[in-house]
Amino acid sequence: MTEKLVKRAYVETYGCQMNISDGELMEGILEHSGYIIVGSPEEADVVLVNTCAIREHAEKRVLGRVSQLNGLKQDKPDLIIGVTGCMAQRIGSTLLDQAPYVDIVMGPDGYRGLPETLRRLGIASADKDEEHAGPVSASASAPSIEVVSESKKRGPQLAVLKLDIDENYQGLEQRRQDGPSAWVPIQRGCDHRCTYCIVPYVRGGEKNRPFDEVLAEVRRLADRGVTEVTLLGQTVNSYQWGDLLFPGLLRLVAQVDGIRRVRFTSPHPRDVNEVLVEVMATEAAVCEQLHLPAQSGNNRTLKRMLRRYTVDMLLEKIDMVRKSIPDIALSTDIIVAFPGETDAEFRDTLDLMRTVRFDEAFTYKYSLRDGTPATRFPERDFIASEEAQTRLAELIELSRQIQGQINSSEVGRVEEVLIEHQGRDPGQVRGRTRRNKVVVFDGDVERVGDYAHALLERTTGATFSGSEVAYSKPEMALV
Ligand code: 5AD
Ligand code: SF4
Repeated sequence: MTEKLVKRAYVETYGCQMNISDGELMEGILEHSGYIIVGSPEEADVVLVNTCAIREHAEKRVLGRVSQLNGLKQDKPDLIIGVTGCMAQRIGSTLLDQAPYVDIVMGPDGYRGLPETLRRLGIASADKDEEHAGPVSASASAPSIEVVSESKKRGPQLAVLKLDIDENYQGLEQRRQDGPSAWVPIQRGCDHRCTYCIVPYVRGGEKNRPFDEVLAEVRRLADRGVTEVTLLGQTVNSYQWGDLLFPGLLRLVAQVDGIRRVRFTSPHPRDVNEVLVEVMATEAAVCEQLHLPAQSGNNRTLKRMLRRYTVDMLLEKIDMVRKSIPDIALSTDIIVAFPGETDAEFRDTLDLMRTVRFDEAFTYKYSLRDGTPATRFPERDFIASEEAQTRLAELIELSRQIQGQINSSEVGRVEEVLIEHQGRDPGQVRGRTRRNKVVVFDGDVERVGDYAHALLERTTGATFSGSEVAYSKPEMALV
């Protein structure tokens, strides 16, 4: 008779919100096949490091962490270490040579096969029935597991790296923390080929989730008390399922009973159109917030980035959004020192920032990613790191200045806040406004999940502190 042992798994995730969602998905798959999810590697039989590949810095951090886990393996020789996610897909089985203590390397389309892969390593949680290789999907094929090395001492090293265009994650369920907000992936992969970006190569082409599955998930979340959902996708607004385009899905989600706030990230500027803006403006649950990655404020750079819009097109879209939703908060992503970017071209990006006045900007130095088209630019185009750093510092300074000015002008407003966490100090809570601004105010931790109204009293530049106020809807003016 097989020993009935429940195995313990720990998933540690790095990177973007999509990856965090994938981490929860792996936890869900493992839990479903009988594993217990634990909160630290020390308690675990299986540790999965779920990695990001978007910039070199992110990868270096993760490699350091993985070698640290090898220390743990010295004390627990049976510990299984898996590296999953975008970096695993990018580096592939070479990682298993570089780090012989890693047992599994698995890309983003392999997660359904996680229980089966662990079984091949002689580890399986026998709590639930043995049938489970993850919930079945009509479309996805069996995991393609490659044995990369076989050592008597260490056992086999396995690679699951096939990108599977049919894997749309149907039937798989995330393991979610309790809380008022949830992220809901509606799309994975990307059909664009921005020349700096590794995503299409590690996550494959765009794959959308069936809309009825998305809606059913949102309804289940609402039944569990979730009131805010953020729809996730690499180019979320290019979502399509049959005749249903993204604005249609957004409307359906916004109308689910119990859902009070809907956000989505990240849209591609090309697919911001009148229909989308109309839904944003008319559906009460859709928040007055838009993250719109601009990447650059210079046309030649945008063209060489293959962004497929010009600065004027971007400004027109922003105008259209602001006309319909005047109070909208806008955020963006910007890359500086893209190969070949001249100083004057960088200054165009500063001009774009001054023109649009984004509420928040996430700013990055270009990071060379092997395998992306930009690596083929002439060597002389690559910008020295000191120069890149100078540009980044100037951009950050400007965006902080603008953010500080905007936020200072918002002091005195009363805003609806969804209380998300306890604040740093006891007796304080922290939440977000519909416009995605963080507010801290006095309140009991029991209030997490509540909607309150807060007077914004002070700003640090980036966040607000305030106090809760009684609020009743403004009376209709009598004419
Ligand atoms: N170098 C620097 N930043 C990058 N991003 C994507 N790829 C790179 C790269 N190679 C940034 C983009 C994107 C954000 C998530 O990360 O701004 O919108
Ligand atoms: Fe990368 Fe461009 Fe796709 Fe965004 S749209 S994931 S930047 S290739």
